[in-house]
Amino acid sequence: MSIPPAGKFPLPELAEMKRRGEKIVMVTAYDAPGARFAEDAGVDVILVGDTAAMVVLGYEGTTVPVTMDEMLFLTRTVARVARRPIVIGDMPFGSFQVSDEKAVENAIRFVKEAGTDAVKLEGAGPSVSRVRSIVEAGIPVMGHVGLTPQSATMLGGFKTQGKTAEKARLLVEGALELEDAGAFAVVLEAVPVPVAAEITRRLSVPTIGIGAGRGCDGQVLVYHDLLGLTEGHLPRFVKHYASLSREIRDALEAYVHEVRAGTFPEDQHTYEMAEDELARFEEELGQRAPQHQ
Ligand code: KIV
Repeated sequence: MSIPPAGKFPLPELAEMKRRGEKIVMVTAYDAPGARFAEDAGVDVILVGDTAAMVVLGYEGTTVPVTMDEMLFLTRTVARVARRPIVIGDMPFGSFQVSDEKAVENAIRFVKEAGTDAVKLEGAGPSVSRVRSIVEAGIPVMGHVGLTPQSATMLGGFKTQGKTAEKARLLVEGALELEDAGAFAVVLEAVPVPVAAEITRRLSVPTIGIGAGRGCDGQVLVYHDLLGLTEGHLPRFVKHYASLSREIRDALEAYVHEVRAGTFPEDQHTYEMAEDELARFEEELGQRAPQHQ
């Protein structure tokens, strides 16, 4: 692997933060402004999530359709702009399920073509050997257990996971297997608070929670959810820190109104011309009749 650019947040620091009890802040981003805002706010990790399918590409209620090429395009943009935060590319459905070899090939594409520092992939079970193979290829991997949206159909929808003793035990085992395979952190999504806290206690690598309570070592939210850009029914774990969709709607409606009323642009939005040039311009035009009369 190449030497990270100066100022880049060092990946091993995440484990140190866990040890010191300092919370890790992760957020998703999908474009240059988002990456810049996240970096300026001081986030540690930016995930270019496959939630892009829903919040950027307009697919409803599924992350499955987003392709490798679409993820690479979005991730490249974020990685180009984010200097300090660790940038993680989220491996989309179909990019790692087929085999370890295919998973390594696609993880390499994230690093070489999109410039990411690491990749994330969903699931335990068969995903464990994918994680091991990618880590052996020299690419850091973040795991993801609990609600794994790429397998939402098999899980019976976007539902809390690990609610029975047996399922909770399976989650603990899965997270431990991912750590053993070399994952540098594990996302816990929509998992009961005590289960997430227990996983966090048992793992030496950090857990990053989304709908998993304060017991996790860090938190992640989807950019559009955090800013109030998403509308309609949202999961319980979403907190709006702003109401941007309202502001955007108000701004666009005001613009539509002003253009139609002829009140935009005002003088301050326009350019003038020197008096003598204007006179010469009119003179020049006066010598030539307009073509369409
Ligand atoms: O794709 C995504 O945004 C994610 C986060 C919700 C963890 O996987």
